[in-house]
Amino acid sequence: MKNTAQNLRIDGTRLWDSLMEMARIGATPAGGCNRQALTDEDREGRDLFVRWCREAGCEIRVDRMGNIFARRPGLESDAPPVITGSHLDTQPTGGKFDGVYGVLAGLEVIRTLEQHGVQTRAPLEVVVWTNEEGARFSPAMIGSGVWAGEFSLEYGHGREDKSGRTIGAELERIGYRGEVPAEPFPIAAAFEAHIEQGPILEKEEQVIGVVTGVQGIRWYDVTFHGTPCHAGPTPMEDRRDPVQALSRLCERLYGEVKAYSEEARMTCGDLRAEPGSRNTVPEKVVLALDLRHPEPEGLEHLHRALQRVAEEVQEATGSTIEIREEWHSPPVAFDPQCIDAVNSAVENLGYSHRKMVSGAGHDSVYVSRVAPVSMIFVPCAGGLSHNEAESAEPGHLEKGCNVLLQAMLDRAGI
Ligand code: GLV
Ligand code: MN
Ligand code: MN
Ligand code: MN
Repeated sequence: MKNTAQNLRIDGTRLWDSLMEMARIGATPAGGCNRQALTDEDREGRDLFVRWCREAGCEIRVDRMGNIFARRPGLESDAPPVITGSHLDTQPTGGKFDGVYGVLAGLEVIRTLEQHGVQTRAPLEVVVWTNEEGARFSPAMIGSGVWAGEFSLEYGHGREDKSGRTIGAELERIGYRGEVPAEPFPIAAAFEAHIEQGPILEKEEQVIGVVTGVQGIRWYDVTFHGTPCHAGPTPMEDRRDPVQALSRLCERLYGEVKAYSEEARMTCGDLRAEPGSRNTVPEKVVLALDLRHPEPEGLEHLHRALQRVAEEVQEATGSTIEIREEWHSPPVAFDPQCIDAVNSAVENLGYSHRKMVSGAGHDSVYVSRVAPVSMIFVPCAGGLSHNEAESAEPGHLEKGCNVLLQAMLDRAGI
């Protein structure tokens, strides 16, 4: 039986077809997906996933944060399950693979076992985590975060989008505010398959990334206050213009980040000017800032650089600068045994691979607080993600899913 299981392979065509069918929900004219968390499109994607899982013989539970767990029983029904999964929500201009691949790779593992009549000792579960992206509701990874105990359920339910709609109300509206407590349970091992979202595997012509951890992330809302005035009559030297302060801060901080280390990252992903009129100097500008580094000391260095630069710019421009930290996700090291399970699976399958740290955040970060975890990366074209042009090779997706299958069988036992 053991040998048979080691020779099991997933069906790459079935996986690809499912990815393409899911990609029709929220499809954008430019070839990407807009299926933001808890929208009607997210509901449709969830419904499709739930239907597919039931057809594959799984039982479904939905917890109070809307996280969906699809369970395939094991020979030992009380044994802690081996879980896998990711997210179905996308960026507003997202691709077809970010998150979705990890969910449908999990489903493909279950379909493969069903097709070949293979029973595992421990149960298997495929999980869809709510609002991983953090695009509609901040912060990112909040479904797994509440579940793992990082945030309270009240905090999770109370998060608002830009129009003031809350996660709790939107879960209710789309019918995914479940009854099961959003809290951890004993888990034997957790794996998440994902596209790399960066260029390393493609550049090095490796097929699999064995992921050893995730770099740290800090999110800030930086507000620059100014004095609104008329764009025409007001001389330049008489203005308290928050945009000038913002541009100075950005220029200085980009310089510091680049000079500090090749691994440091700074992104200004959203800018909002108020009142937002072309011929009025804004009263305030709010910058959504994302800083990242793989080491805690590096992330702390960037944090301090932001405070220092803000003080200097405030003094130089007279514009008051307020920094509010929105989210802090420290660097994470994954579990050695789970990393080994992925590594052995890749080696037995004979795929090219390397170890790597994830530059992007993933639900596995919070899952790793309460369970042994590791991740499996596959290349994406040009390293492009959070972009409608995101794409991945069917053959790479298939190989990543074979690694997932073998790693899950390794931990679940047969
Ligand atoms: C979280 O998903 C991130 O990497 O931004
Ligand atoms: Mn993702
Ligand atoms: Mn993403
Ligand atoms: Mn992510």
